[in-house]
Amino acid sequence: MKKVLIGVALVFFLLNLTGTAIAAGAEIWAKKCALCHGKDGKGTTPMCQKLKCRDLTNPKVQEAFTDDQAAKGINEGVKDSSGKIVMPPFKEKLTAEEVKEIVKFLRTLKGK
Ligand code: HEC
Repeated sequence: MKKVLIGVALVFFLLNLTGTAIAAGAEIWAKKCALCHGKDGKGTTPMCQKLKCRDLTNPKVQEAFTDDQAAKGINEGVKDSSGKIVMPPFKEKLTAEEVKEIVKFLRTLKGK
């Protein structure tokens, strides 16, 4: 009986860890990314209309980049086809761990 309880506690602990990571990602998103991409990621803000963001909730858009590519874009910034910086780099502002958490959160927006 004790073993079962420990097992159950462990599962809840692990679930809670991933839940916390997504919550942290959501918080950073709201603070640093929603300004352009919008809280929902659809990119309908005036900033994003000017900068021509894609709709990050669109599964096709999400499939266009891997987690690594998304992390690279967040770290190093994104340029348009003429080389103009359209999204600033966040490498100085976020830790590698935070970037991972944001990418995890980003994936939860898919199809919403
Ligand atoms: C100044 C406005 C602005 C801010 C702030 C901003 N972005 Fe972007 N982002 C853009 C634009 C513009 C693009 C390029 C068009 C597109 O891919 O939608 C882009 C592209 C992306 C992409 C696609 C990258 C790829 O490889 O194609 C991801 C992922 C992304 N942003 C995530 C984020 C995250 C996470 C944050 C917050 C840490 C953030 N953005 C903050 C404007 C912004």
